[in-house]
Amino acid sequence: MYRDGITEVTCIDLSAVAVEKMQKRLKAKGYKEIKVLEADMLDLPFNEECFDVVIEKGTMDVLFVNSGDPWNPRSETVAQVKAMLEGVHRVLKPDGIFISISFGQPHFRRPLFDAPDFTWSVEWSTFGDGFHYFFYVLRKGKRSSSDEGSSGKKEIPSICLFQEELEGEDFIFRTNIDEIS
Ligand SMILES: C[S@@+](CC[C@H](N)C(=O)[O-])C[C@H]1O[C@@H](n2cnc3c(N)ncnc32)[C@H](O)[C@@H]1O
Repeated sequence: MYRDGITEVTCIDLSAVAVEKMQKRLKAKGYKEIKVLEADMLDLPFNEECFDVVIEKGTMDVLFVNSGDPWNPRSETVAQVKAMLEGVHRVLKPDGIFISISFGQPHFRRPLFDAPDFTWSVEWSTFGDGFHYFFYVLRKGKRSSSDEGSSGKKEIPSICLFQEELEGEDFIFRTNIDEIS
């Protein structure tokens, strides 16, 4: 991005060690304009509508480390993700774009991105071979009425699985084939 001329960049990390290392790396490369700040993504220290683009890679995923059952994450996890997304939505300009690069599958991420308060549209591309990751693009102000209509339908399935069951692919036996149209 920097080499393509996008020099007005602000990076954050909660870890002072990560911030210091990144500051040194950027200085060594001569990327002087890039700011690196110690900050919490759950409480972004920026004014409203000040960024054209927000990018996160693998940082939202951190919130899911202790989230328990992926089909039914703990309420603390959901509250933290909500705080993060509300902050991102707040600091984006009215036509700003949020890019989230994540291992979280659309089935699990989409209901969070699609929360009713957000005005962004949600699209994604899948990458990787076997071990997939996802490139979500959320465009603020571009949510269509059909997105709003469908967001209510994107419920997490009521089946509840443990990690061993997911790995053993037992979940396939719980599929209600009557629901497949
Ligand atoms: C998996 S690493 C990804 C780092 C980087 N985006 C990359 O792709 O290499 C997750 C990073 O999130 C940071 N982090 C964890 N919780 C955070 C928070 N609440 N606010 C800001 N950064 C956080 C960690 O310190 C860590 O550097």
